[in-house]
Amino acid sequence: MNIVVLGAQWGDEGKGKIIDFLAEGAGVVVRYQGGNNAGHTVVIDGKKFALRMVPSGILHKGKKCIIGNGLVIDPKSLLEELAYLRKNGIKVGKNLLVSENTHVIFPYHNLLDTLSESKSKKGKIGTTSRGIGPAYMDKIGRTGIRMADLLNKRVLKEKLEKNLEFKNYILTRYYKVKPFNKSKLLREYTAYGQKLKHFISNTFPFIHEQVSLKKNILFEGAQGTMLDVDFGTYPYVTSSNATSGGACTGTGVGPSAINRVIGVTKAYTTRVGEGPFPSELTGPGGDLLRKKGNEYGVNTGRPRRCGWFDAVVGRYSAMVNGLTGLAVTKLDILSGIKELKICVAYRIDGKVVKDFPADMDRLARAVPVYKVMKGWTEDLTQIRHYSKLPQNTKIYLREIEKLTGVKISILSTGPDRSQTFILGKIWTR
Ligand code: GDP
Ligand code: IMO
Ligand code: MG
Repeated sequence: MNIVVLGAQWGDEGKGKIIDFLAEGAGVVVRYQGGNNAGHTVVIDGKKFALRMVPSGILHKGKKCIIGNGLVIDPKSLLEELAYLRKNGIKVGKNLLVSENTHVIFPYHNLLDTLSESKSKKGKIGTTSRGIGPAYMDKIGRTGIRMADLLNKRVLKEKLEKNLEFKNYILTRYYKVKPFNKSKLLREYTAYGQKLKHFISNTFPFIHEQVSLKKNILFEGAQGTMLDVDFGTYPYVTSSNATSGGACTGTGVGPSAINRVIGVTKAYTTRVGEGPFPSELTGPGGDLLRKKGNEYGVNTGRPRRCGWFDAVVGRYSAMVNGLTGLAVTKLDILSGIKELKICVAYRIDGKVVKDFPADMDRLARAVPVYKVMKGWTEDLTQIRHYSKLPQNTKIYLREIEKLTGVKISILSTGPDRSQTFILGKIWTR
């Protein structure tokens, strides 16, 4: 059984937690896109781990973890992540593979990301400044440098030369900043290649073999559907395909190998960075959710914008990902809020709209149409079975299922691995 686990909203839905929980039953966990813009949190017996590029399955012994070709990797940051994991008692060795096709982030990508954001007075995206956009630009522009190139000094030199000729021109002429030194970068990145060489390999035959052997594989998405470069709130998106299609192009398996697609969604909504967010609560309601849910970015520490559950987004996400199940997280955070709202549609220019619009100008005018739901006061953090949930919680969850058209297969009532339970089938047909 091969399962894609992805973000059904704007990221930070709790994908890391769900992947870690499901990894118990998997043999292989493959990340398929993004880079160190991601921050995936896993809490095991109160101990917190924050992952950026390494698949969240790494915390289980004996699971093969793969960084797929669809990512963009900052090697310095990856080495830091590996050191962090080892320091915290996690073994990283033969259990980790990095696809040789994975693209590499260079310091000029980070700088260009930061400069382009600071230059745009209007239309700033609010990126994580990790160089993600510029690195994917080079990939699509066919000038990118891949992990395999770090192991071949001659090729790396040639490619760096070509890249720096253009990058340095832009940096010095357009942005009026200092250029990068080729020899220094060549030395630095050759050294990273040497440090990472035991992980870098042709991962496609391995994954293919695992598929043929019918081993359970988890495909781990980063970011979320509404940050997807094709389906998200463009241009306020990331530069990769966070949706289920990315699991194929970012790992090298065909769509026929995917059996299930689980969309991770918070019981409410959050977003970091700029861009439209129709069900956002800008006043005290948003502050309350942020405080209760501790809604601050894992890596950047930025406060997350908070709002009600948006079923228009949920339905859209179900459609573009082919969701077969939902994992609803942070249900515990809603305890004690007297009245809950679910956005069921948007009103745009006087018309009720149920399909997510592509025209951002129209979306900016969208006013949410809410269904008001009764809250519950009970603490959910110790609950491990659906039947034990308060009646109003069940009604709230059933409404989410009805409005999105997707059954809930996993519920999460706290950050810890143990605060998770299954409703539907996961690894069985
Ligand atoms: P990801 O990027 O999708 O992996 O999500 P993040 O790790 O960035 O953000 C999710 C945050 O919510 C983390 O701090 C998790 O520890 C936490 N979390 C996940 N599920 C739950 C839950 O059910 N309840 C609570 N209270 N926290 C949760
Ligand atoms: P995980 O995997 C939430 C957002 C940024 C910004 C936009 C583009 O932890 O859910 P980028 O640096 O990717 O060019 O920024 O995307 N963003 C995320 N928001 N969770 C993430 O990852 C994100 N990764 C990027 O805030 O709005
Ligand atoms: Mg995150």
